[in-house]
Amino acid sequence: MKAVILSGGKGTRLRPITHTNAKQLVPIANKPILFYGIEAIKEAGITDIAVVIGDTGDEIRKAVGNGKRWGVKVTYVQQEAPLGLAHAVKICRGFTKKDSFVVFLGDNLIKDGIKSLVDDFKKKKPNAQVLLAHVPHPEQFGVVELKNNRVFKLDEKPKKPKTDLALVGVYMFDHNVFRAIAQLKPSARGELEITDAIQWLVDKKMKVNPYIIKGWWKDTGKLKDMLEANRIILDGIKQDIKGKVDKKSQIEGKVVIGRGSEIKDSVIRGPAIIGRNVRIRNSYIGPFTSVNDGVLIEKSEIEHSIILMNCRITEIKRIEDSLIGQNVQIIKSKSKPVAYRIMVGDSSCIEVL
Ligand code: TTP
Repeated sequence: MKAVILSGGKGTRLRPITHTNAKQLVPIANKPILFYGIEAIKEAGITDIAVVIGDTGDEIRKAVGNGKRWGVKVTYVQQEAPLGLAHAVKICRGFTKKDSFVVFLGDNLIKDGIKSLVDDFKKKKPNAQVLLAHVPHPEQFGVVELKNNRVFKLDEKPKKPKTDLALVGVYMFDHNVFRAIAQLKPSARGELEITDAIQWLVDKKMKVNPYIIKGWWKDTGKLKDMLEANRIILDGIKQDIKGKVDKKSQIEGKVVIGRGSEIKDSVIRGPAIIGRNVRIRNSYIGPFTSVNDGVLIEKSEIEHSIILMNCRITEIKRIEDSLIGQNVQIIKSKSKPVAYRIMVGDSSCIEVL
């Protein structure tokens, strides 16, 4: 079996981060989301992986490389535009050839991995298998109806969902999916929909099996979901302190501090992860916070947030529920008139006191 990870797309729900960066590379507990997917695929015994890339392809190539570090072989497939999940699968035909394959959405996180469903697919050999979950708001997902333990109807983001069973970001197919995609026309939103391709397989009486996930999973396409994913992953870390912590500081609970980092006169309350070469002075870092490499935090309080590389945060009373991009500076106004002075990119969101 092979695997295809979809890492193109528009990422509109995660602007402005996605104006400059691939959302699949946003770190959760200081590790890019995409890496969790690669690890899950490797753990399921699959080592031949295609990564579909779009505008942010260069950044993804640089971060992932040839896959050697995970013991897998990565091939890149360039999608000329985000024309839909089914389109992204279609362009991988030359890679998958006649093999069956897993499709994994590069911004999804499946906590317990995908080994059990890959094993199930290998054992039962259906034409397709979809990963499903019971969700509270099915209208935001592809929704599935089952009959006799088979998938028989799929609806993309229906206004009045008939069930609460949503498609989670993992699909498995044999080569018949390419026949299905060849018949598709773009949907109302102009995309080739994977739900339509699966419906075609169902209508042609092919075997499409459901696999209902029991563990935690998340589509991290939005800020709130990204913070939740960060929370869940941080909950599972173990204490590991490689950096320097002075006598005046307190480290409470599960905390990771990377090499070259210095904590002075501060409280770090886990679960929290501090990357490498981070300087934290006279500050409080609260639970569920990930601070990436090279960040400087002084006289500030931060909780339940993700801070990307090389940010500087100085004299800020309290930051919560935030995702702060690379090289951002948030500093207390000193020069007169004391005021909010802001330079932010398009589609940013700032809540002030
Ligand atoms: P989505 O999150 O459904 O779409 P998107 O990335 O365009 O984001 P938004 O809805 O916020 O605008 O995509 C799921 C995954 O599939 C994600 O990793 C991006 C990837 N993808 C592609 O590779 N090609 C595509 O044509 C599309 C639509 C998504």
